[in-house]
Amino acid sequence: MGRAIIWMWLINIFLYQEATTQVVGVWIKCVSYDPLFGVFQTCNASTSDLSIYIKWLKLPVTSLKGDVLLTYQSAFKPVSLINATWDICKLFKNPGRHYAFHRMYSNIRSFVNINHSCPYNHDLIISSLRAERTILPFPVFPGKYNVTVVINANGEKRVNVKAGITLFWKK
Ligand SMILES: *[C@@H]1O[C@H](CO)[C@@H](O)[C@H](O)[C@H]1NC(C)=O
Ligand SMILES: *[C@@H]1O[C@H](CO)[C@@H](O)[C@H](O)[C@H]1NC(C)=O
Ligand SMILES: *[C@@H]1O[C@H](CO)[C@@H](O)[C@H](O)[C@H]1NC(C)=O
Ligand SMILES: *[C@@H]1O[C@H](CO)[C@@H](O)[C@H](O)[C@H]1NC(C)=O
Repeated sequence: MGRAIIWMWLINIFLYQEATTQVVGVWIKCVSYDPLFGVFQTCNASTSDLSIYIKWLKLPVTSLKGDVLLTYQSAFKPVSLINATWDICKLFKNPGRHYAFHRMYSNIRSFVNINHSCPYNHDLIISSLRAERTILPFPVFPGKYNVTVVINANGEKRVNVKAGITLFWKK
């Protein structure tokens, strides 16, 4: 993050701690790179929620990693807020070791069907996740955000989920 952005963030947190935002647009796109390994049974979004169902065709899933990229459309160019590989199995094995992941997970845990480390003997389901800013691990500006997650399961890139969300201040 650039220095100007960090300052804007701090000012935002200071001024707007109590303000609420409204979701005005959500879109989602899911792509399977390997339909013999994983396919999407659901991939949809409305302004209120988001649902994804990934059916794994070769269980068990013994390793699961996500390349996570979260970008914000600043007035000048997209700024990346998170750009990291999250090893889901390791993160569940060491709870508390990774602040952003655990903060985010605790916000969404009731909407996802994984709550443990590998192996996974079931599909990956996110059901009716409410699209709102409290999902993110830090306070946010209104504006446009994109999140892209490339999921690597059992050592290969299998699927890609890309979603966009637009937030406005609630009047
Ligand atoms: C998305 O899919 C889920 C599960 O199939 C369904 O319950 C939900 O109504 C769908 N939402 C939209 C906006 O189509
Ligand atoms: C979000 O994705 C859309 C469509 O791919 C793109 O046009 C837009 O520039 C992206 N915005 C950010 C903030 O990355
Ligand atoms: C994300 O990180 C990867 C690896 O460090 C880098 O190659 C890539 O350019 C970064 N992407 C963005 C949008 O910052
Ligand atoms: C994980 O979820 C299962 C099924 O909902 C539940 O039985 C189990 O107690 C949960 N485990 C933890 C550690 O939360």
